[in-house]
Amino acid sequence: MCMSIKAKDYVKGIWGIALSLLLGVNLLCVSVSNAAIPKDKAEEIAKYVAAMIVAGRGVVARHQGLINDPSKGDKGFTPEYVEAKMKESFKKITGKDVNELDPLVKTVVDQVLHAAKMSVQMNQGRINQKGKGFKMYIPAVFGRETGQILKGMSKIMIKQTTFKYRNNYNQPDEFEKKVLSKFESSDWPKGKGYGEMVGNFYRYLQPIYIKKACLKCHGGPKGASDIAGRKKEGYKEGDLRGAISVMFPVK
Ligand code: HEC
Repeated sequence: MCMSIKAKDYVKGIWGIALSLLLGVNLLCVSVSNAAIPKDKAEEIAKYVAAMIVAGRGVVARHQGLINDPSKGDKGFTPEYVEAKMKESFKKITGKDVNELDPLVKTVVDQVLHAAKMSVQMNQGRINQKGKGFKMYIPAVFGRETGQILKGMSKIMIKQTTFKYRNNYNQPDEFEKKVLSKFESSDWPKGKGYGEMVGNFYRYLQPIYIKKACLKCHGGPKGASDIAGRKKEGYKEGDLRGAISVMFPVK
């Protein structure tokens, strides 16, 4: 079954252009169901969706050396390659193969994978550019784009949010602020997510923490420029950086 695509959903600057290019190759023609998610499956779905985003961010993080290698043109960092790596990493994180998931959960997780592949596809030109080092195809950009694409093709909304946001798009709303504050408190078990119903929506946040690899851009000294020319926040390893925020309507 092919989804019907409303052009107006995609007329968002560069997204309009990029997505219409993709539509030309029918990438959105996947078998997905956009039926509302039943309440009793909400938490499971939110957790696996967040895990797949964490997996994808990790894949992009671990390939920064390749992506930013100026001596190479074609990097082989294709949507299919990234999908395979994401599935591998998802299995490490959750202990589950994507194919073992409950069919409804799998449908939604597949949509996330599909959106992630579209982001990678749209960035092939940038990734495969020879002679250029840092390309700004970083976990945060991958995650934001995947969320934006997913929002256009499903009812699932994903955001990477934090109190110290660099991009206004990631600014926390009231609910996210409340949950981020919970995560910051010293008695919150590290790594534990939090979800609840808010009106007709299920909302879930999965905390993410600063690792060694994040420090060169988000570490110290606070206020110094990172490789992207942005100000470092002065985080230390293990600090709460923010959360993957997942939200969707349930019935
Ligand atoms: C190469 C520099 C770089 C590295 C390394 C890096 N980041 Fe970032 N990060 C950025 C930039 C630049 C942004 C803003 C991206 C945007 O405009 O959407 C950002 C944004 C984010 C955001 C979204 C919130 C915001 O500030 O808008 C999160 C969450 C985040 N980074 C987490 C991490 C984590 C966790 C790591 C380590 C695994 C990491 N980053 C590694 C540069 C980096």
